[in-house]
Amino acid sequence: MRKQIVAGNWKMNTTPAEGVKLAKELVALEGSLNNVSLIIAPPYTHLSMIQDVIGKSSIALSSQNCADEVKGAYTGEVSASMLASIGTEYVILGHSERRQYYSETSETLNKKMALAYANGLTPIYCVGENKEEREAGRHFDVCRKQIEEVVYNLTEEQFDTLVVAYEPIWAIGTGLTASSDQAQEIHAFIREVLTSKFGAKAENTSILYGGSCKPGNAQEIFSKKDVDGGLIGGAALVAEDFVAIAKSF
Ligand code: 13P
Repeated sequence: MRKQIVAGNWKMNTTPAEGVKLAKELVALEGSLNNVSLIIAPPYTHLSMIQDVIGKSSIALSSQNCADEVKGAYTGEVSASMLASIGTEYVILGHSERRQYYSETSETLNKKMALAYANGLTPIYCVGENKEEREAGRHFDVCRKQIEEVVYNLTEEQFDTLVVAYEPIWAIGTGLTASSDQAQEIHAFIREVLTSKFGAKAENTSILYGGSCKPGNAQEIFSKKDVDGGLIGGAALVAEDFVAIAKSF
């Protein structure tokens, strides 16, 4: 059985005080959830404080990124070992905003993935095409390449815990979502690409959908066979909405 996961990517939103409040609200609501793992990814500045809030709950902590070097003179960077040392369990890697605005390449991501695993963090590896690529029918090739260039370098043991997120760039923060059929089609394709390398293990990989996922559309999208949950942006900033999405299986 693959894990059903709803993960909240807070991006560069909330003050630490607002983040702590949101985390407390989630802790108060999470008891109403069955069989779904909740993960939240606040900004770096909030992680330690939020770990104190969620520590005894079943909500897991993620960071939104990590450094591609171990330690040393890399001004502004935060290492995977620092993140792990404060109780961070997951790290979002390869988000399209990192690829687009911070020029992250497969080469950088391979280094980050290796460091994440070396420090016991589980990567949530993001793939997805932009609008032009979708319109040209290239979305399959784009996702395949993003997986082959990075995920194919993992060991079988590393692959066992990997979480994948499909996030079409044209659906992120736009209010447009992939239809549930479009999501199923590409999620099934992604699982096939994973299967080509890792065989039946790919049946156990959670593949999350991200892109304008809201309480009103989550149920339809999550009803599809190869959609195992969501990576949520905007709607993760409102506790009731995030929990409503998590109740949509
Ligand atoms: P939105 O849910 O705001 O579209 O963001 C999705 C996303 O990028 C999550 O990582």
